[in-house]
Amino acid sequence: MSGKATLSVNGQTIELDTVVGSEGEVGIITKPLRGATKAISLDPGFVNTGSCTSDITYIDGENGVLRYRGYAIDELATKSSFLEVCYLLLEGKLPSASEFSDYKEQITRHTLLHEDLKKMFDAFPANAHPMAVCSSVVCALSTYYQNNLDPLNPEHVDLSAKRLVAKLPTIAAFSYKKSRGQALIYPDNELDYAGNLLKMMFAYRTEKYELDEDVAKLVDTLLILHADHEQNCSATTVRVVGSAHANLFASISAGICALWGPRHGGANQSVLEMLQVIADDGADVDKYVALAQDRDSGFRLMGFGHRVYKNYDPRARILGEMVEKVLTKLDINDPLLNIARKLEAHALSDSYFVDRKLYPNVDFYSGIIYRALGIPTNMFTVMFALGRLPGWIAQWKEQLAHGLPIGRPRQIYTGENLRPYVPMSER
Ligand code: MLT
Repeated sequence: MSGKATLSVNGQTIELDTVVGSEGEVGIITKPLRGATKAISLDPGFVNTGSCTSDITYIDGENGVLRYRGYAIDELATKSSFLEVCYLLLEGKLPSASEFSDYKEQITRHTLLHEDLKKMFDAFPANAHPMAVCSSVVCALSTYYQNNLDPLNPEHVDLSAKRLVAKLPTIAAFSYKKSRGQALIYPDNELDYAGNLLKMMFAYRTEKYELDEDVAKLVDTLLILHADHEQNCSATTVRVVGSAHANLFASISAGICALWGPRHGGANQSVLEMLQVIADDGADVDKYVALAQDRDSGFRLMGFGHRVYKNYDPRARILGEMVEKVLTKLDINDPLLNIARKLEAHALSDSYFVDRKLYPNVDFYSGIIYRALGIPTNMFTVMFALGRLPGWIAQWKEQLAHGLPIGRPRQIYTGENLRPYVPMSER
């Protein structure tokens, strides 16, 4: 559907076309603006600017709605599996039984890394952040598949996408093992996606690994909840790098780097670091709730509110319901988690939080659950990247399929006007 918008610029009125999305959202197409008026739209951070139309994910921030390819996140979280959600995001539909069986077999075939690539993990210090390792190794994958990198070749793209979905858990687990000085555990192709990841992270070569199926299911659900989130910072990064026709491995490596930022995927790690600060200072939650309300305190509560959701983040609602079950099942009595529970209670009752819609977000709960599962804090954002991978790939494929131009925004220059060069002797 389409419509019209009228804009007056310095006394000049122009009519712009609009596009109306399948959920009634309206986008004003500003492409003619500069040619007709010499003015451009200016929206730092693109917070009110659409970069594309997309069929992948729908978010209604005002009503706390999140859907992948039209399916509600709470249905997918309870009825689907992460690998099925990968298929859904990448192919646009839920697979038939035979399609899923074939997809799963293909993914399983690609879980190993080239033996020479393992040496790359030795190049990093033990305390290297795993996001640095993962983004480096993902980009390095392109050097092992140099004949299958053409972003305009559907077969190359399909194979690269399967290689990434299959190998990122191996890369993540290898980075974790190297950081612990432990022997690498190879993929076990008998296990499902999340179970294989857990075994590669927590098994030892000297012992039989007993996989807790409930924990595996929980990790699988966490991956589903993180699988895509429309045009977030890292997805936009992947799209823009891909718009230069950089290969998929390079584009995903850039997305991992964007997600690493504490304002984005690093927020779940910042939540636990915040809880530790409160714990180290006597676990006085009321003190820190008061500090959070004092702009001059310099203290900011991490894990609350969201730039898009002006209601409860539906992913947080699902995780919030899971947290108690997990902590009870694992018989966890962790002081940080007790602090988190008190903060949650404040957020759901204090007018300061409720009036500002500062509900706990997905990062608040995911950090708590990862900690309860024994996943170290610096691996939290890696877990986010593992979940977001299919979304990144789907967004990358879509911008190529739509034939979008290279991402190259304009600016409004506010610097010095023309001035002559002055020789150093005269300055
Ligand atoms: C995400 O899932 O990417 C985060 O909630 C951030 C966002 O959507 O901007």
